[in-house]
Amino acid sequence: MSKKGYYGRWGGKFIPEVLHQTFEELEKAYQAARNDESFWQEYLELMSTYSCRPTPLTHAENLSKHFGGAQIYIKREDLNHTGAHKANNVMGQGLLVKRMGKTRVIAETGAGQHGVATATMAAKFGFECTIYMGEEDVMRQRPNVFWMEKMGATVVPVQDGSKTLKDAINEAFRDWVSNMDTTHYVFGTACGPSPFPEMVSWFQSIIGGEAAEQIVTQHGSLPKRIYACVGGGSNAMGIFGRFLKEDQTDLVGVEAGGYGLETGKHAARLCGVDASPGVAQGYKTMFLQNDDGQMRHTHSVSAGLDYVGVSPILSDLNDQGLVRFEAATDDEVMEALDLTMKKEGIIPALESAHAFVQAFKEAPTMDTKDAIIINMSGRGDKDIFTIANAFDDPSWKEFIIERGKTYSSS
Ligand SMILES: Cc1ncc(COP(=O)(O)O)c(C=O)c1O
Repeated sequence: MSKKGYYGRWGGKFIPEVLHQTFEELEKAYQAARNDESFWQEYLELMSTYSCRPTPLTHAENLSKHFGGAQIYIKREDLNHTGAHKANNVMGQGLLVKRMGKTRVIAETGAGQHGVATATMAAKFGFECTIYMGEEDVMRQRPNVFWMEKMGATVVPVQDGSKTLKDAINEAFRDWVSNMDTTHYVFGTACGPSPFPEMVSWFQSIIGGEAAEQIVTQHGSLPKRIYACVGGGSNAMGIFGRFLKEDQTDLVGVEAGGYGLETGKHAARLCGVDASPGVAQGYKTMFLQNDDGQMRHTHSVSAGLDYVGVSPILSDLNDQGLVRFEAATDDEVMEALDLTMKKEGIIPALESAHAFVQAFKEAPTMDTKDAIIINMSGRGDKDIFTIANAFDDPSWKEFIIERGKTYSSS
């Protein structure tokens, strides 16, 4: 970080005057936590007793044999409580909220994983909780909405704009401005105004720390490459951070290629040609926007990658050539998902499956002695409706129709 809150030419803190004091308070609490070893110990204790950490590193032997190249290892963030890496960030911020003495939390969510994780944390710590979610994402991720509400959260469907993640973020900021005395905004990814990009990456760094130890124990050396999907960038920063200093490990971020980069219907900010520098939602990064600075509609089969901006830290690592960015299309994602389920009995989230696509393209070109790690950011259970639709599964369709009839007649 060059200047406070900046990463090269990206980042910053572009916030309304009224939020300045709240951000100062947050910055203070965050810095105090970073300088207090007992805070990290408390965090590790919480994550090991509440969220199944350390998550395993699985050697995908069948996939490795299938591709005949590098040994493929999968970092199993799906086995975190609530089924994704989002819990790492949320529980950490929950501990900070307790320190700051606030009583209410709000959050935005796309795939619903961050919303569910926040609702879980709020229930555990006794906070009031409101989750903002684009209406389109409410439809795509209905099971997660159900669980958030059952855990006591209020879910507000956002009807503005493209009714996806960026619109939910705008709405959450509006709420925060009106309720900052009691409320903390649990930002879900490594974006937004400083200190969120760095703070979220810090909590997620638990992934990379574990993975480095595990791969050396299990494989005998550090990995040749690491693959992570990139929405806002938090799971990628979580696993990449520890390996930035390791010359022998290449880092590959995989963005949503949607219908294909040439169609314009995607969410590729760093590997495409459509994004440009901009300031929005409190920070400066590469955004998918038109010439007037209006945010464009993005497309991805995965709600969690369907976002106009990207972590300013990743934009900087891209500038420095320290992370390579690629894109996976919706169709490639379904193929990778199918293969992973059949070969390993593992169901990646649609978001995570983007990382699998790129790893599967590159593994066959590598030596069988080399190891690669795919960061499996979450599990695919939440995506059952989208996946069943994509596979056009007739018995599932029949089940849904019958289930609908049972509900309407009872
Ligand atoms: C399972 C999963 N993976 C990845 C993401 C993308 O977020 P990030 O890039 O912050 O890891 C999401 C976002 O909702 C998600 O639910």
